[in-house]
Amino acid sequence: NIRGIIFDLDGVLTDTADYHYQAWQKLADEEGIPFNRQANEALRGVSRRASLMLIIGDRRYSEVQIQEMMERKNDYYVKLIHNITSKDLLPGVVPLLDELRQAGIKIALGSASKNARVVIERLGIADKFDAVADGYSVQEPKPAPDLFLYAAKQLGIPPSQCVVFEDAAAGIQAAKAAGMWAVGLGPVERVGAADIVLSSLAGVKWENLFRSAVC
Ligand code: BG6
Ligand code: MG
Repeated sequence: NIRGIIFDLDGVLTDTADYHYQAWQKLADEEGIPFNRQANEALRGVSRRASLMLIIGDRRYSEVQIQEMMERKNDYYVKLIHNITSKDLLPGVVPLLDELRQAGIKIALGSASKNARVVIERLGIADKFDAVADGYSVQEPKPAPDLFLYAAKQLGIPPSQCVVFEDAAAGIQAAKAAGMWAVGLGPVERVGAADIVLSSLAGVKWENLFRSAVC
Protein backbone atom coordinates (compact mmCIF):
# COMPACT_ATOMS: atom_id res chain seq x y z
CA ASN A 1 0.00 0.00 0.00
CA ILE A 2 2.03 2.92 -1.35
CA ARG A 3 1.15 6.31 0.17
CA GLY A 4 4.15 8.48 -0.66
CA ILE A 5 6.34 9.10 -3.69
CA ILE A 6 9.72 10.79 -3.49
CA PHE A 7 11.16 12.24 -6.69
CA ASP A 8 14.80 12.96 -7.30
CA LEU A 9 15.14 16.18 -9.32
CA ASP A 10 18.22 16.32 -11.54
CA GLY A 11 17.81 13.79 -14.34
CA VAL A 12 14.31 12.72 -13.23
CA LEU A 13 12.04 15.77 -13.46
CA THR A 14 14.35 17.87 -15.65
CA ASP A 15 17.60 17.41 -17.52
CA THR A 16 19.78 19.49 -15.20
CA ALA A 17 22.06 16.44 -14.92
CA ASP A 18 23.64 17.70 -18.14
CA TYR A 19 24.11 21.23 -16.71
CA HIS A 20 25.89 19.74 -13.69
CA TYR A 21 28.13 17.88 -16.13
CA GLN A 22 28.85 21.01 -18.20
CA ALA A 23 29.76 23.01 -15.10
CA TRP A 24 32.13 20.30 -13.82
CA GLN A 25 33.69 19.97 -17.28
CA LYS A 26 34.45 23.70 -17.38
CA LEU A 27 36.05 23.58 -13.95
CA ALA A 28 38.09 20.47 -14.80
CA ASP A 29 39.30 22.08 -18.05
CA GLU A 30 40.39 25.21 -16.18
CA GLU A 31 42.27 23.09 -13.66
CA GLY A 32 43.82 20.93 -16.38
CA ILE A 33 42.24 17.80 -14.91
CA PRO A 34 41.19 15.10 -17.40
CA PHE A 35 37.40 14.69 -17.30
CA ASN A 36 34.69 13.70 -19.76
CA ARG A 37 31.08 12.61 -20.08
CA GLN A 38 31.96 9.02 -19.23
CA ALA A 39 33.81 9.99 -16.05
CA ASN A 40 30.79 12.12 -15.16
CA GLU A 41 28.59 9.02 -14.90
CA ALA A 42 30.15 8.34 -11.48
CA LEU A 43 29.06 11.82 -10.33
CA ARG A 44 25.36 11.40 -11.09
CA GLY A 45 23.35 12.05 -7.93
CA VAL A 46 26.54 12.56 -5.92
CA SER A 47 26.90 15.62 -3.63
CA ARG A 48 28.89 18.68 -4.69
CA ARG A 49 31.87 17.95 -2.44
CA ALA A 50 31.97 14.21 -3.18
CA SER A 51 31.77 15.00 -6.91
CA LEU A 52 34.77 17.33 -6.67
CA MET A 53 36.70 14.68 -4.72
CA LEU A 54 36.06 12.16 -7.50
CA ILE A 55 37.27 14.67 -10.10
CA ILE A 56 40.49 15.67 -8.34
CA GLY A 57 41.36 12.07 -7.37
CA ASP A 58 44.74 12.02 -5.63
CA ARG A 59 45.73 15.56 -6.67
CA ARG A 60 46.49 17.67 -3.63
CA TYR A 61 44.45 20.80 -2.93
CA SER A 62 44.01 22.83 0.25
CA GLU A 63 40.58 23.16 1.89
CA VAL A 64 40.52 26.80 0.71
CA GLN A 65 41.11 25.71 -2.89
CA ILE A 66 38.46 23.01 -2.56
CA GLN A 67 35.91 25.54 -1.30
CA GLU A 68 36.80 27.93 -4.14
CA MET A 69 36.39 25.18 -6.77
CA MET A 70 33.01 24.13 -5.35
CA GLU A 71 31.87 27.77 -5.50
CA ARG A 72 33.21 28.22 -9.02
CA LYS A 73 31.41 25.11 -10.28
CA ASN A 74 28.21 26.28 -8.59
CA ASP A 75 28.50 29.73 -10.21
CA TYR A 76 28.69 28.05 -13.64
CA TYR A 77 25.76 25.81 -12.75
CA VAL A 78 23.63 28.69 -11.45
CA LYS A 79 24.19 30.53 -14.75
CA LEU A 80 23.14 27.45 -16.72
CA ILE A 81 19.87 27.03 -14.79
CA HIS A 82 19.03 30.71 -14.96
CA ASN A 83 16.68 30.40 -17.93
CA ILE A 84 14.90 27.20 -16.92
CA THR A 85 11.14 27.26 -17.50
CA SER A 86 8.29 24.72 -17.51
CA LYS A 87 9.48 23.82 -21.03
CA ASP A 88 12.42 22.09 -19.36
CA LEU A 89 10.22 19.55 -17.57
CA LEU A 90 10.90 16.06 -18.91
CA PRO A 91 8.03 14.35 -20.77
CA GLY A 92 5.45 12.67 -18.54
CA VAL A 93 6.30 14.55 -15.35
CA VAL A 94 3.24 16.81 -15.04
CA PRO A 95 0.62 14.13 -15.92
CA LEU A 96 2.22 11.77 -13.39
CA LEU A 97 2.35 14.39 -10.61
CA ASP A 98 -1.29 15.25 -11.28
CA GLU A 99 -2.37 11.60 -11.32
CA LEU A 100 -0.63 10.99 -7.99
CA ARG A 101 -2.30 14.00 -6.41
CA GLN A 102 -5.70 12.83 -7.62
CA ALA A 103 -5.02 9.37 -6.19
CA GLY A 104 -4.34 10.97 -2.79
CA ILE A 105 -0.67 10.01 -2.78
CA LYS A 106 1.71 12.41 -1.04
CA ILE A 107 4.61 13.78 -3.08
CA ALA A 108 8.07 14.82 -1.89
CA LEU A 109 11.22 16.06 -3.54
CA GLY A 110 14.37 14.19 -2.54
CA SER A 111 17.30 15.98 -4.15
CA ALA A 112 20.91 16.29 -3.03
CA SER A 113 21.06 19.73 -4.62
CA LYS A 114 21.23 23.03 -2.77
CA ASN A 115 19.71 24.56 -5.90
CA ALA A 116 16.67 22.27 -5.85
CA ARG A 117 14.12 24.79 -4.58
CA VAL A 118 14.94 27.42 -7.17
CA VAL A 119 14.84 24.79 -9.92
CA ILE A 120 11.35 23.49 -9.02
CA GLU A 121 10.16 27.09 -8.76
CA ARG A 122 11.46 27.91 -12.24
CA LEU A 123 9.96 24.69 -13.57
CA GLY A 124 6.63 25.87 -12.16
CA ILE A 125 5.99 22.72 -10.13
CA ALA A 126 6.93 23.88 -6.59
CA ASP A 127 3.28 23.83 -5.47
CA LYS A 128 2.90 20.16 -6.44
CA PHE A 129 5.11 18.96 -3.56
CA ASP A 130 3.90 18.22 -0.04
CA ALA A 131 7.50 18.20 1.25
CA VAL A 132 10.96 19.15 0.04
CA ALA A 133 14.19 17.43 1.06
CA ASP A 134 17.21 19.08 -0.55
CA GLY A 135 20.94 19.68 -0.16
CA TYR A 136 20.35 21.52 3.11
CA SER A 137 18.18 18.85 4.78
CA VAL A 138 20.67 16.24 6.02
CA GLN A 139 24.41 15.74 6.60
CA GLU A 140 25.00 12.35 4.99
CA PRO A 141 24.56 12.44 1.21
CA LYS A 142 23.25 9.60 -1.03
CA PRO A 143 23.99 6.65 -1.11
CA ALA A 144 23.15 7.05 2.60
CA PRO A 145 19.38 6.70 3.21
CA ASP A 146 19.16 9.91 5.30
CA LEU A 147 17.72 12.26 2.66
CA PHE A 148 14.89 9.92 1.68
CA LEU A 149 14.15 9.05 5.33
CA TYR A 150 13.93 12.79 6.02
CA ALA A 151 11.51 13.21 3.10
CA ALA A 152 9.30 10.33 4.32
CA LYS A 153 9.26 11.80 7.81
CA GLN A 154 8.18 15.17 6.41
CA LEU A 155 5.33 13.38 4.64
CA GLY A 156 4.49 11.41 7.80
CA ILE A 157 4.63 8.11 5.90
CA PRO A 158 6.67 5.01 6.86
CA PRO A 159 9.55 4.17 4.46
CA SER A 160 7.99 0.82 3.49
CA GLN A 161 5.04 2.74 2.01
CA CYS A 162 7.25 5.05 -0.08
CA VAL A 163 8.51 4.75 -3.64
CA VAL A 164 11.56 6.66 -4.88
CA PHE A 165 12.07 7.70 -8.52
CA GLU A 166 15.80 8.03 -9.28
CA ASP A 167 18.19 8.25 -12.25
CA ALA A 168 21.42 7.66 -10.29
CA ALA A 169 23.02 4.49 -8.94
CA ALA A 170 23.76 6.32 -5.66
CA GLY A 171 20.08 7.27 -5.41
CA ILE A 172 18.80 3.73 -5.96
CA GLN A 173 21.23 2.53 -3.30
CA ALA A 174 19.94 5.24 -0.93
CA ALA A 175 16.31 4.25 -1.55
CA LYS A 176 16.96 0.57 -0.90
CA ALA A 177 18.99 1.42 2.22
CA ALA A 178 15.98 3.44 3.42
CA GLY A 179 13.73 0.39 2.99
CA MET A 180 11.77 1.98 0.15
CA TRP A 181 10.72 0.79 -3.29
CA ALA A 182 12.84 2.16 -6.12
CA VAL A 183 11.95 3.02 -9.69
CA GLY A 184 15.08 3.53 -11.78
CA LEU A 185 15.07 5.83 -14.79
CA GLY A 186 17.73 5.10 -17.37
CA PRO A 187 19.92 2.22 -18.54
CA VAL A 188 20.02 -1.03 -16.57
CA GLU A 189 23.80 -0.65 -16.19
CA ARG A 190 23.09 2.43 -14.08
CA VAL A 191 19.78 1.78 -12.30
CA GLY A 192 19.51 -2.01 -12.54
CA ALA A 193 19.38 -2.33 -8.74
CA ALA A 194 15.91 -0.69 -8.75
CA ASP A 195 12.71 -2.73 -8.33
CA ILE A 196 11.38 -1.37 -11.62
CA VAL A 197 13.46 0.11 -14.45
CA LEU A 198 11.96 2.56 -16.95
CA SER A 199 13.64 4.41 -19.81
CA SER A 200 11.75 7.63 -18.98
CA LEU A 201 8.55 8.95 -17.38
CA ALA A 202 6.92 9.58 -20.77
CA GLY A 203 3.49 7.94 -20.84
CA VAL A 204 3.98 6.40 -17.39
CA LYS A 205 0.74 5.93 -15.46
CA TRP A 206 0.98 5.29 -11.74
CA GLU A 207 -2.06 3.04 -11.91
CA ASN A 208 -0.34 0.69 -14.38
CA LEU A 209 3.05 0.86 -12.69
CA PHE A 210 1.52 0.01 -9.35
CA ARG A 211 -0.38 -2.96 -10.74
CA SER A 212 2.72 -4.44 -12.36
CA ALA A 213 4.66 -3.99 -9.12
CA VAL A 214 2.01 -5.69 -6.99
CA CYS A 215 1.56 -8.68 -9.32
C1 BG6 B 1 22.30 16.12 -7.39
C2 BG6 B 1 22.96 16.06 -8.74
O1 BG6 B 1 20.92 16.20 -7.56
O2 BG6 B 1 22.75 17.26 -6.67
C3 BG6 B 1 24.47 16.10 -8.60
O3 BG6 B 1 22.58 14.85 -9.38
C4 BG6 B 1 24.88 17.32 -7.76
O4 BG6 B 1 25.05 16.17 -9.89
C5 BG6 B 1 24.15 17.31 -6.44
O5 BG6 B 1 26.28 17.31 -7.54
C6 BG6 B 1 24.47 18.55 -5.59
O6 BG6 B 1 23.94 19.68 -6.23
P1 BG6 B 1 24.33 21.19 -5.88
O7 BG6 B 1 23.39 22.00 -6.76
O8 BG6 B 1 24.06 21.41 -4.44
O9 BG6 B 1 25.76 21.37 -6.23
MG1 MG C 1 19.42 12.62 -10.28
